[in-house]
Amino acid sequence: MIVLGIETSCDETAVALVDDSYNILAQRLTRQIEHERWGGVVPETASRAHLELLDTAIRYVLLDASLIPAQLSGIAVTTGPGLAGALWVGAAFADGFSLASGVPIIPVHHLEAHLWSALFVDKTIATPFLALLVSGGHTLLIRVNAYRNYEIIGTTRDDAAGEAFDKAARLLELGFPGGPAIANAAHRVKKNQRLPKLPIADLSPSFDFSFSGLKSALKRAVDGHPEFSPEAWAASFETAAIESLLKPVMRYWQANPKLPLIIGGGVAANQLLRKRLTETAEKLKTRFFATPIEYCTDNGAMIALAGVLSLEHGFQNSEQPVTIHPRFPISQLTAHDS
Ligand code: KG4
Ligand code: ZN
Repeated sequence: MIVLGIETSCDETAVALVDDSYNILAQRLTRQIEHERWGGVVPETASRAHLELLDTAIRYVLLDASLIPAQLSGIAVTTGPGLAGALWVGAAFADGFSLASGVPIIPVHHLEAHLWSALFVDKTIATPFLALLVSGGHTLLIRVNAYRNYEIIGTTRDDAAGEAFDKAARLLELGFPGGPAIANAAHRVKKNQRLPKLPIADLSPSFDFSFSGLKSALKRAVDGHPEFSPEAWAASFETAAIESLLKPVMRYWQANPKLPLIIGGGVAANQLLRKRLTETAEKLKTRFFATPIEYCTDNGAMIALAGVLSLEHGFQNSEQPVTIHPRFPISQLTAHDS
């Protein structure tokens, strides 16, 4: 079984081919850098770029794997959540390709794709497990009881983790996307350099997250303390944001140490987060699986993989043309499809 994955929910135009052993046969990814000068993704620009890039990208991966469309078992495409116009481009393309080739379409939930990407590091990961999904738009701690049985343990009350990094980077004029910009700047801080203090959110006894207080505190503190460099602020912000993220995760994990933890989504590429969770897993004598760094941020392979899993579990798409869902809580997957 080989599935083509198409991802156009935001500013990555990405396609890939994945087989039923979860091997990536070919892939192509273009991160649209034209958004950088605006400090955020411009939806209309993103849609146009997807339209220009998609056709060639798909031809490229098929050629690369020496396959013809009829050899595919499915065309997996992100139908939500994401930017409406950007999602439409991928969905319309997938529809046309499916009609022309006779290959069935597989609608994919973007976060479900992030959730299962840890399979790229270990194919034997089995339910139940705990999943921390941290992207530009979402922050979720989920207990994965089984495929499509997703119990939300905690979510953000305000900004998403990645959004917090993006906003902080904009404030510190470090560039876009903010996560890597903040992490790189933090890296330039010298050992023993004095760093400003920023607050760490703690919403216990709930397992929810919050990042807006940290964002406001950063803004106030930067204005009041011009003596600190942007690098120093970046280092303090990274620590405070990652610790705010870890608080509820650690509390739930310590109470349920038998559950392995997986992380996925753009922020899961953060080295400090990965290091802290690796150390905790050792202490708790449990297992931790981090999605490979190159598959944390949006990519086509995770969409193809989600398509393979969907086929393996016998889900069949009944609608063509497919509908897009710009807002699409992952908890609804259980209710709609099972
Ligand atoms: O999953 P993703 O590629 O797109 C969405 O689905 O939103 O995540 C993008 C987010 C951005 O907010 C970006 O700043 C953040 O992931 N990010 C990081 C790092 N790399 C990307 N955040 C913290 N540290 C990183 N190394
Ligand atoms: Zn994503």
